[in-house]
Amino acid sequence: MTDSATAGQGAAPPEIDATVPHSARVWNYWLGGKDNYPVDRAAGDQFQEVFPAIVDTARESRRFLSRAVRFLAGEARIRQFLDIGTGLPTAENTHEVAQRVAPESRIVYVDNDPVVLAHARALLTSSPEGVTQYVDADVRDPDRILEAAARTLDFGRPVALMLLGILGHVTDDDQARSILRRLLDAVPSGSYLVLYDGNDTNPAGVAAQETYNQSGALPYRLRSPEQLARFFDGLELVEPGVVSVPRWRPDPGDPPTEVDASAGVGRKP
Ligand SMILES: C[S@@+](CC[C@H](N)C(=O)[O-])C[C@H]1O[C@@H](n2cnc3c(N)ncnc32)[C@H](O)[C@@H]1O
Repeated sequence: MTDSATAGQGAAPPEIDATVPHSARVWNYWLGGKDNYPVDRAAGDQFQEVFPAIVDTARESRRFLSRAVRFLAGEARIRQFLDIGTGLPTAENTHEVAQRVAPESRIVYVDNDPVVLAHARALLTSSPEGVTQYVDADVRDPDRILEAAARTLDFGRPVALMLLGILGHVTDDDQARSILRRLLDAVPSGSYLVLYDGNDTNPAGVAAQETYNQSGALPYRLRSPEQLARFFDGLELVEPGVVSVPRWRPDPGDPPTEVDASAGVGRKP
């Protein structure tokens, strides 16, 4: 997955800003990836010094993605996934998890970071029966996302809307709610919303986030678990509801643990 033109030690191409940390690249650093620049590693290290648990949070969040997609493709029989704020390719990307359960699954990835775009081909390795597509778009423009995704997804059939670790970047509550409403209005009954975001339950996490937000990076807002739960208003929450990320349907043998991020899955009635 590594593209030597965009990652590691080499000079960044002009469309890529390697002078300020970027969410996708810092996240990739915490996940143990190589697709990040010194500025991202410095911001990641500074965050970790104040709040070391961020690394566990990032890793647990990817494990939640895997469990949620297995639930959706398995028990919920969903075959279409719209994954907005995809991040850099890593192990267990949405299409790999979904197509392992149901090879005919169709996945549209959306992100607006040029580095993610540069790596998108690693996300486009579909099973022969299914499809994966990548859309370079901003979550603040749901109409454009829906229009582009409609080339791959059938909005007459249920879709899993996945917004994992991205709504914190939409710091205004009304805007975040309006994006969710627009996306949910476009999908039929039986569709799902999957969401996790960092929460404000740990003062060290809040302090680390405040410093990060002053670094020139796109700010990320930590909401309370109650505020995050309200994003599911109007949906039927899948058990166990909106909980700390590792507590959402842990796999047998998973150690009981907590991180300062809340996750949930809701079904559109
Ligand atoms: C914390 S990462 C989460 C990545 C992945 N969803 C995961 O859970 O591992 C947030 C992602 O959202 C993307 N992002 C941030 N703001 C965005 C926007 N306005 N439109 C589209 N993507 C955005 C970033 O580029 C990054 O890839």
